[in-house]
Amino acid sequence: MCGIVGYVGNDDNCVRVLINGLKRLDYRGYDSSGIAYFNNGKFNIIKEEGKLTNLISKVNLDSKSNIGIGHTRWATHGAANKQNAHPHKMGKFTIVHNGIIENYDELKKDLIKKGYKFKSDTDTEVISALLDYLYSKENDVLKVVQKLNFFLKGSYALGILCDDDKDALYALKKNSPLIIGVSDGKNYIASDVPAILNKTKKYVALEDDCYAKITKDDVKIFKDGKNLDLNVKEFEYDDASISKQGYEHFMLKEINEQPEVFKKTTNPYLKNNFEWLLKKMPDFTKYKCIRIVACGSATHAGLIGKQMIEKYANCEVNVETASEFRYRKQFLKDDELVIVISQSGETADTLEALKIAKDNGNDTLGIINEKGSTIAREAKMVLYTEAGKEIAVATTKAYSAQVAMLSLIALNLSLKKDLIDKKEIKELLKDVKKIPDYMQELLSNKELYRKIANDIKDYNDVFFIGREVDYALAQEGSLKLKEISYTHSEAYAAGELKHGTISLIDEGTPVVAIVTDDEIAPKTISNIKEVKSRGAHVIGITNDSCSDASDYYDELIKIPKVNDLFQPLLAIIPLQMIAYELAKLKGCNIDKPKNLAKSVTVE
Ligand code: G6P
Repeated sequence: MCGIVGYVGNDDNCVRVLINGLKRLDYRGYDSSGIAYFNNGKFNIIKEEGKLTNLISKVNLDSKSNIGIGHTRWATHGAANKQNAHPHKMGKFTIVHNGIIENYDELKKDLIKKGYKFKSDTDTEVISALLDYLYSKENDVLKVVQKLNFFLKGSYALGILCDDDKDALYALKKNSPLIIGVSDGKNYIASDVPAILNKTKKYVALEDDCYAKITKDDVKIFKDGKNLDLNVKEFEYDDASISKQGYEHFMLKEINEQPEVFKKTTNPYLKNNFEWLLKKMPDFTKYKCIRIVACGSATHAGLIGKQMIEKYANCEVNVETASEFRYRKQFLKDDELVIVISQSGETADTLEALKIAKDNGNDTLGIINEKGSTIAREAKMVLYTEAGKEIAVATTKAYSAQVAMLSLIALNLSLKKDLIDKKEIKELLKDVKKIPDYMQELLSNKELYRKIANDIKDYNDVFFIGREVDYALAQEGSLKLKEISYTHSEAYAAGELKHGTISLIDEGTPVVAIVTDDEIAPKTISNIKEVKSRGAHVIGITNDSCSDASDYYDELIKIPKVNDLFQPLLAIIPLQMIAYELAKLKGCNIDKPKNLAKSVTVE
């Protein structure tokens, strides 16, 4: 969740490379940052609390240096202040770290007894002290880095510098991503691709328990003392794909990319009258039931998947939050497929849930956006969403790609089980073709979203209601709103309102009602009437086929009617846009909401 960048090269540009890398990474963590670089015979450390601009104002970009490391932090151990910011130095070792060291307390006590004095509250400073201690016994950096791996418990991606070796950058990885960018005479480390994408196209992904010695001309990777072959790969994205391309925010750009993402994610499966859908997906008919486990918006995508798979494929689906699932008593059945959904493919709780399912002997399927990520590698089967790189912390296009993939799974199972007739398939194909244009239409309603945001901006609480698939959408709409606009909101199953929440509805209280499923629409409309008669300001998101309730909506967003399997992909757009416009009106930091991180690699 923090960002790491490191450089060793044949020029003097290190400080600029580090700062540039951190700028490109600060969506990963942004409460403090720092760099360490070799200049004037020593490693200099500069760090600052708060935004990256605070650090930049303290750095001389023209300082000459050819080796260094940088870090942007999302605090875990210790407050977000300068003292706790990385890099941390103890004795001869300066390091940056992503992850959490679970046994840092006992290591720290032991190192204090050995005479080490700590200045910060971080687990990271403990690693630098441990390195220094091991080095005092061994005097060989590479061996010490190898040994470190035996002492640490938890997750760590580390960039390491040693005062006695000013020409080499060392790295160690376990349960937290780290890549090594390679090019002629210049090599890099990074926690995430964007940090170095403008520097090199080639990279090596460090595997768990592997460590590396990187100099300007050489990259060597080791595991348990053995030198491994370098598996050099090329990045899938180009630099343009991670720029705002004229949009005011990454989030707006990513919301607008959804028509394209939908096509890219679904096209490979929808050719030749669904022949490819049957061929390109694994056979799910052998599973009696499905468990979906994920975090955040990916769980909400799973909730939509549940509705689709149960309704269209007649297969029971249960959805769970990974952070709950992993600590609970398990009742996974032998013939249960476990689907984990993750944009990053690195979320710690989701990864752990996957391991539990595997250990239990269940088949696992990952619905993943980041190719080659840890979850993608660990899952038995993988289906990739094609959302491309997502930079805004609050997910939009990756979420809708997950929803699209789950709809395809529902359709695949439905076809295989002969539950869908030819006429419906024909209609469905027609709808699928129209969806990108419909999405575009909805994206063009900016004025309406702005007006709605303006209507609700002075209220402290917003309620989202719906039933079944619309309730799953309400949960994502509510999450988006609170994540980026800091307005409290709650999603409620519409039928449950009268058991509590309705007491909170007063004159003018904003209620966003989602009514897209015509089978259940009359029931939701009754609930809308209940809140309306208590003074609510009702914003309806509905389509033509849900019986008319125009009189009860203060604002109405009409979405085109498509086959129910794909309807959520249209309904989500106004929800994302209302959240975006409200956050903009309130002057929030839309792409980097406070306290949140894009990839949550700690439990
Ligand atoms: C963070 C992000 C969310 C995301 C969740 C799960 O909380 O801010 O947008 O839904 O992690 O991430 P994943 O990468 O596993 O989909």
